Amino acid sequence: MNDSLAIETIGLTKKFGNFTAVDDVSLQIQRGEIFGFLGPNGAGKSTTIKSILDLIRPTTGECRVLGLDSRADAVEIRRHLGFLPADLALYPSLTGKQTLAYLGHLRGGVDWKWIDQLAERFDADLSKKISEYSSGNRQKVGLIQAFMHKPQVLILDEPITGLDPLVQLEFHTLMREHVSQGNTVFLSSHTISEVERVADRVGFIRRGHLIAVETMSELHDKALGRITLEFAEPVPASVFEGIEGVHEVTTEGPTVTAQYEGSMAPLLKVATEREVVSVSSASVDLDEIFLEFYRDEVQAADAAASDGGEGAAA
Ligand SMILES: Nc1ncnc2c1ncn2[C@@H]1O[C@H](COP(=O)(O)OP(=O)(O)OP(=O)(O)O)[C@@H](O)[C@H]1O
Ligand SMILES: [Mg+2]
Repeated sequence: MNDSLAIETIGLTKKFGNFTAVDDVSLQIQRGEIFGFLGPNGAGKSTTIKSILDLIRPTTGECRVLGLDSRADAVEIRRHLGFLPADLALYPSLTGKQTLAYLGHLRGGVDWKWIDQLAERFDADLSKKISEYSSGNRQKVGLIQAFMHKPQVLILDEPITGLDPLVQLEFHTLMREHVSQGNTVFLSSHTISEVERVADRVGFIRRGHLIAVETMSELHDKALGRITLEFAEPVPASVFEGIEGVHEVTTEGPTVTAQYEGSMAPLLKVATEREVVSVSSASVDLDEIFLEFYRDEVQAADAAASDGGEGAAA
């Protein structure tokens, strides 16, 4: 057991019949961080989250929240936890305010001052009935109920679904404030651009397997840059071969394009030995790295299948 962790899964595996939705996932989420949990549809994000929350029982493995066992200490954990499910179900005939009052009383009290501040920041009208809200406005009620007790651990399953960009921005600011007070956010998402803005670390899950866990800065270091150089005269591609971190050099007359990792300095040093007319560069989208993770995994799975190696689900 590690008390310094906000969330820990140890060999978490969940099977539905013969199908393994989550396969031996071990995650360690530190206190005070925003952890992005990324994966495509059906990857196992919600199944992992439900196991952490003890809404479903793992087939094998265990989950801990704030050092407490998610099964044995489920009640105690609830006191410190905020949760926004992916498929939020609320009572249609209650207003937003009545909903928050109801959920608040289940937890032994409501801080209306804080709720009013949250509602104002999200531009949420709490006087409407749940059945009358647009989906984005209903999601705001879900977010407010997740934040309203200032929980030490917040678990949010695809929270930005339906939120407009301004509200997303406010939500991201709020998350940052929340972790700056020592709390923790576990955030699932499909898109790296969302977690890129807020997360300190990201975990990638696909087909139930945790493929990688990286800090945001490690990921940025992996992002390749693209550079285009215009020279006064044609330059052979061989000039740029063998430079540290430089890949895929192509030349077309005086125009040279290349990809580079990390710093572009070694490349520029060589380039400026000749007359450079112009330089332009762009960073490759993190989405490309993300897709690369997935492609590798698909290829590995295809190769295993063609070898006749089927995942024995015993
Ligand atoms: N109760 C269940 N019974 C059978 N299969 C299930 C059940 N719940 C989930 N699964 C399967 O487990 C896999 C993982 O589902 P999960 O909901 O965890 O994915 P997800 O990563 O949250 O996907 P999404 O991005 O679409 O929400 C899917 O193939 C899903 O069909
Ligand atoms: Mg899901």
